[in-house]
Amino acid sequence: MRQLCALSLVAVGAGIAAAGAQAEDTLQRGAYLVNTVMACGNCHTSVGPAGPGPELAGGLPFELPSFTTYAANLTPDRKTGIGDWSDQEIGRAIREGIGRDGRLLAPVMPAEFFQHLSDQDLAAVISYLRQLEPVRNEVPPSIFRMPLPVTWVEPITAVAEPDRSDPVAYGAYLGQIAHCMECHTPRDDQGHLDLARLGAGQHEFIGPWGVSVSANITPNAETGIGGWSDAEIKRAITEGISRNGYELRPPMAFSY
Ligand code: HEC
Ligand code: HEC
Repeated sequence: MRQLCALSLVAVGAGIAAAGAQAEDTLQRGAYLVNTVMACGNCHTSVGPAGPGPELAGGLPFELPSFTTYAANLTPDRKTGIGDWSDQEIGRAIREGIGRDGRLLAPVMPAEFFQHLSDQDLAAVISYLRQLEPVRNEVPPSIFRMPLPVTWVEPITAVAEPDRSDPVAYGAYLGQIAHCMECHTPRDDQGHLDLARLGAGQHEFIGPWGVSVSANITPNAETGIGGWSDAEIKRAITEGISRNGYELRPPMAFSY
């Protein structure tokens, strides 16, 4: 009898845990993607004198020769955020770089990389954004000083789940949506990525930290990370510490 009781307790406990895990999973996955892998806050959370925040409420300016843009307010505020947007509209902004009104978003928003985000992960990201604290923060529209193409990426209808049991395929997927190559690839005079030198670094970033130059993260043994151990690479990505102990500066998107 005692045994039976214990057994059914375990079963009930497991049932609750399973239901809880199911409910948590989408949101936890969304939090993980937004706050670490995809680093939305790197652009969408402003940093004031009191530190970063409010979370994902936008406003950070980007001044480039060909446009001026401000990271959007991603909180569910109905007037100044995305509270009134449909899932489809939010998904189109993330994966295709198109605003709610159909205009193209400034190419700082890395849709070129986010286009690979799976449908399931997109739903997780949206569910995370929807439960943020709404913040009223009006963000100015972008000003373009260049002709815009018709579109940045071809329309996306569906993106299948990556195969998580294949570490190389899943790593490639995470690398795409983490947009590592956006920063770690040199650009030509027009600002296009030099795909022949993918991962070779040398892109300069100017900010309150001074000038940081993205590193060569190809497996070249001398100038890249070919000689690094897995633990050293992991530390650079998750803690922002280089092989020799040097603290990496922004905008290297290590987890925070
Ligand atoms: C490298 C900087 C950068 C990163 C990283 C980034 N964004 Fe953006 N995003 C922008 C900028 C800048 C805009 C505004 C572009 C414009 O209005 O032309 C924008 C616009 C948007 C919009 C359109 C909102 C509106 O009101 O028009 C959405 C939705 C969005 N981003 C979601 C995300 C999400 C979700 C992530 C992470 C998965 C993310 N962004 C990561 C820079 C970034
Ligand atoms: C928004 C731009 C940006 C993104 C996105 C980004 N990085 Fe970086 N990364 C940098 C910059 C800039 C540096 C150099 C910082 C410094 O020298 O202070 C750097 C440094 C590094 C280093 C240290 C290399 C060395 O020689 O010290 C590694 C490793 C690295 N990044 C890997 C990655 C990986 C992997 C990703 C994607 C998961 C990634 N980075 C995403 C900008 C970025």
